[in-house]
Amino acid sequence: MESVDNFKGIFKYYKSNKPKPSFDDVISLVDPSKLTDKVSKMTLSNITEDNRAALLGLRKTNEWELYSFHDHPGLFLIKNPFTALGQRYWIRKCLETYPRKPNKLNIDIETLLPDWWAKCFETGQCNRQLQKKLRWTTLGYHHNWDTKIYTDENKTPFPEDLAELSDVVAKYLGYSCFRAEAAIVNYYHMDSTLSAHTDHSEVNLEAPLFSFSFGQTAIFLIGGKDKSREPSAILVNSGDVMIMSKEARLCYHAVPKILSSELSPWDDKEDLCLISDDDTLLRFISDKTLLVSSMNKNYKDSVWTKFRDYMKESRINMNVRQVLNETQNSLTDYHFNDT
Ligand code: SIN
Repeated sequence: MESVDNFKGIFKYYKSNKPKPSFDDVISLVDPSKLTDKVSKMTLSNITEDNRAALLGLRKTNEWELYSFHDHPGLFLIKNPFTALGQRYWIRKCLETYPRKPNKLNIDIETLLPDWWAKCFETGQCNRQLQKKLRWTTLGYHHNWDTKIYTDENKTPFPEDLAELSDVVAKYLGYSCFRAEAAIVNYYHMDSTLSAHTDHSEVNLEAPLFSFSFGQTAIFLIGGKDKSREPSAILVNSGDVMIMSKEARLCYHAVPKILSSELSPWDDKEDLCLISDDDTLLRFISDKTLLVSSMNKNYKDSVWTKFRDYMKESRINMNVRQVLNETQNSLTDYHFNDT
């Protein structure tokens, strides 16, 4: 017998413009003094500072705020660990670099563009229609939206900077062997939604999923392993990192609504500082000087205007996964640990 879909009702409730929903039950971490009994701020013992953080646009890890959700074991949120320059860097990467070929885009079926962002500005003016068409880009093992099956043939190199960022967050949470192998970058506009789904295509479902959000605020819904459970609603702001692990890894989740935010942390002047090339060793990136210069080139407000304009009415989410088991080097490599 089919179970009742209690997810749908809550999704419709938050999606609605008329009548407007009440946000009283939405879990918000904006004001820690107003935390409900549904959330706890966690204190991690023995945090060893990861000196890669600054180079990747992150604050020191001992300043990060980590929250857990009582009704959703395995679900965690790190409240915006990014600096203003860091937010600018990652937003720009998602717009200017990741949608370039050989990565895959939703618009490929209509027109194969080698460089979507450059095409948007080809005439000197911004082509807003083309800008709005981009809904997703996939990286690494490309998610196949029809079959939901990853294949070794449908794979391109995973961006080193995003692998390094994911590794810093993974290490902070105690995952020392996480490998970023696939990502979906989702682009939302003010009227976009993402319907209820689970992420279960990866061979490795033990590894956590890291979800980095930038731009306008989202209402994020998370329920249970089937749609009978009513989901909780959580406010996700620019810079927030959501981690879906253990029981939460396979739970239904969705985005029914994008809300205009009063804040634009990428423009927070007190927080906007250049980074310096120091003797920090990176794990995946060989050309550190290039990373430092591409981070710092976002410092100048005028350089960043095009990206700011896009983000005024958009949200970007980078969703990073490990596909393979630890002992596998490819999907056809069935060399599992001997038991
Ligand atoms: C996803 O589940 O793929 C994206 C979630 C989000 O945009 O926060």
